[in-house]
Amino acid sequence: MCGIVGIVGNREVAPLLVDALKRLEYRGYDSAGVATIADGRLDRRRAEGKLVNLEQLLAANPLPGHVGVGHTRWATHGAPTTNNAHPHFTDGVAVVHNGIIENFAPLRAELTAAGADFVTQTDTEVVAQMIAAHIRTGMDPRAATLATLQRLEGAYALAVMFDSDDGMIIGARNGPPLAVGHGKGEMFLGSDAIALAPFTDEITYLEDGDWAVVTRAGAEIYDHNGNRVTRASQISKGTAYVVDKGNHRHFMEKEIYEQGEVVSHTLANYLDFAGGRVKPDTSGIDFAALDRLAISACGTAYYAGLIGKYWFERFARLPVEIDVASEFRYREMPLTGTMAALFITQSGETADTLASLRYCKAQGVRIGSVVNVVESTIARESDAVFPTLAGPEIGVASTKAFTCQLSVLASLAMIAGRARGTLSDADEKAMVQALVEAPRLFNQILNTIQPQIEALSRELSRFKDVLYLGRGTSYPLALEGALKLKEISYIHAEGYAAGELKHGPIALIDETMPVIVIAPHDRLFEKTVSNMQEVAARGGQIILITDAAGAKASTLKTMATIVLPEVSEIVAPILYALPVQLIAYHTAVFMGTDVDQPRNLAKSVTVE
Ligand code: AGP
Repeated sequence: MCGIVGIVGNREVAPLLVDALKRLEYRGYDSAGVATIADGRLDRRRAEGKLVNLEQLLAANPLPGHVGVGHTRWATHGAPTTNNAHPHFTDGVAVVHNGIIENFAPLRAELTAAGADFVTQTDTEVVAQMIAAHIRTGMDPRAATLATLQRLEGAYALAVMFDSDDGMIIGARNGPPLAVGHGKGEMFLGSDAIALAPFTDEITYLEDGDWAVVTRAGAEIYDHNGNRVTRASQISKGTAYVVDKGNHRHFMEKEIYEQGEVVSHTLANYLDFAGGRVKPDTSGIDFAALDRLAISACGTAYYAGLIGKYWFERFARLPVEIDVASEFRYREMPLTGTMAALFITQSGETADTLASLRYCKAQGVRIGSVVNVVESTIARESDAVFPTLAGPEIGVASTKAFTCQLSVLASLAMIAGRARGTLSDADEKAMVQALVEAPRLFNQILNTIQPQIEALSRELSRFKDVLYLGRGTSYPLALEGALKLKEISYIHAEGYAAGELKHGPIALIDETMPVIVIAPHDRLFEKTVSNMQEVAARGGQIILITDAAGAKASTLKTMATIVLPEVSEIVAPILYALPVQLIAYHTAVFMGTDVDQPRNLAKSVTVE
């Protein structure tokens, strides 16, 4: 939700902090700020809105100092004003925070009663105030920080600086991630390895409850009780990727175009292309023994899971129980019999998904995760990790991660089918062959449908409401298409099972409500044609996404018919994601919204 960074350096750190924040801005961008210590004095610059505003402020009014912290904010408590922007100061203590201090209200009341003078509406300020209060009683910064951490409830990744010590930053983690970066005579803290990429690739991830005293000599890591602990450091792969837009206008556009390449990388990790088989499973999950699989995720990842449900049940005859993580974690699902749980997540840090994982783990269920950031918390807490090899996904709207998640789920459904003896060799070979073909088709489709979709999106941008319909695995795609459109163009959109139209939503249909129908010419196509006829009969405007056979079979007049190559059922959802992504992208471009950083959103929702 927010991005934090800290540097105990041997050079001017303000520009370095801003560079790191640029790589974290996708996590939140309501405001930004940096603070440094120079000549024993804390100073800061803070600005509302995008990081560029802070850069301009610093250009006009530079901030000296070799030790500093920075923050880019997604507002949880308190409006996104300059006054509420981090870093927060109290009597020589500076704090930046990602997360939510759930007991901030009683702590604020306690501190106010003791004479504290709060100057912001944020939950974070209680951290600075409490540490400062402890220091006033004579505690040193370490003891004051530990005593404060032991009072906090909720989620936090913190970096704390003290004007009494310009060679130290204390970091702490409980929930949202925090990484320690090991430099040469410099040390770093950051929300993820990508933020620290310009400085180091040697990373140590703190665990929940850890806090670290970071000085130029290194990091001393302690647990919640103040006992010294050791955490392994690793060379982060996350820093290897080049994180820039190339010759694209937006990260989202670049990531849509990368899908052929990254889906190919992902499939190659699971499929034996030459042998036409899925590779042997080394996950340790005994799919043959399972009588049920639980799947949980959020947003786009959840829609990938819904498609995976169809595949596990169809090709592996494995019943799947799936729910959005924010419901899953509180439902107390009875995890009886022989079960496994699969969590799907791009970031690997989504709070609700992590909580659902921990609920299942506490019940002794074997945990698998389909994850893009393999150093993330969810990956590290899983028994089996099934990586998507999409590379860093910077656009807040998920695209390449989604199609890579589907690629993994298709492979896992085949692995499960083979283990359970429900997938014949012939079917496996045919499915692998079809999947092997998919990456090549991405670029073919992009070149074919792009101009048509740009023209269509210009028309769509005039409407206030859009309905997406689909059957079978096209139904979760309808949900995903609606999410893509609303989250970046701000046009209201809903996805529905096409068969549900007559059970209510049809009341919405008139010429002001375009209906986007996702319908490859498969065994359900004719049923969906009936739904389109119901729409047409009421003056509804149809946008049909289908293949040549579908376009030929449907005699209906449409606002547009987008034709894709004919593909097998296992590949269709992966390729049909392209038109729904492009419709959302181009509509948002016409609407002039901030495609990569849509309002109110953040890339990784690390709070409830
Ligand atoms: C998708 O476009 C959204 N950005 C959002 O729904 C996202 O998929 C969801 O927050 C889950 O994130 P995760 O995959 O990192 O867990």
